[in-house]
Amino acid sequence: MSERKPIVAGNWKMHNNTVETRNLIREIVKKVKNSGEQCEIIVAPPFTSTAHAVEEAKGSIIQISAQDLFWEDKGAFTGEISGPMLKEIGCSHVVIGHSERRQYFCETDETVNKKIGASIRNRLIPIFCLGETLTEREAGATFNVLKRQLAQGLNAIEIQNPVNFVIAYEPVWAIGTGKTASPEQAQEAHAFLRKELANLRGESFAVQTRILYGGSVKPDNARELMGCPDIDGGLIGGASLKAVDFVGIIEQGTGI
Ligand code: 13P
Repeated sequence: MSERKPIVAGNWKMHNNTVETRNLIREIVKKVKNSGEQCEIIVAPPFTSTAHAVEEAKGSIIQISAQDLFWEDKGAFTGEISGPMLKEIGCSHVVIGHSERRQYFCETDETVNKKIGASIRNRLIPIFCLGETLTEREAGATFNVLKRQLAQGLNAIEIQNPVNFVIAYEPVWAIGTGKTASPEQAQEAHAFLRKELANLRGESFAVQTRILYGGSVKPDNARELMGCPDIDGGLIGGASLKAVDFVGIIEQGTGI
């Protein structure tokens, strides 16, 4: 683990109603020994549970993220939620460009770019997700895909402080499949992303940016993944839905 402060974030996807949300946050708070100095902990509940999560997490070290936002701040956009709305209820982060949104909801590098812009404008920290599909990996296109996603996602966006910006590398073939990238594969992709980020934003920006790994992280593989030099934590799906597993990942992954 580097001097970058690690982050363990739980992406709950479309799980947990308001009651389940409050219960799970209460359980995590009870179990976690972390005081917040060594590691940041974030959970991203679905929209209807977000305000409840903020309220339940108040006074604890848990920060609340949204799973998406729209790029305009207000207007006739039925069904959408804006940055100012998330900010108002107390969200600190927002997941942007998750592969499920790219796959099922027509998210593109261009919409991801607009959404990252909206998050920065509204002082929400983006958790910018990118990663290659199995077909792309097998075709030897992984690095080209990551390079394109990173450059287009960040195109023309000014980010003052890299501490307020997070990348999540999530190889699509490892999400929800139980098939984790090996530590070597993950480290290789993270090191590549950091090098590309240095080309785009300078060495100092790249060195300070947290890059999380996501894809079938569990308590028993968290240590070897998060122990890699360029892996600064995890974005956890399935295993973030059980307090014991989520806290297990925090403990194993960050050594606290
Ligand atoms: P799993 O941990 O369930 O593979 O999901 C990873 C993910 O998509 C986190 O955003």
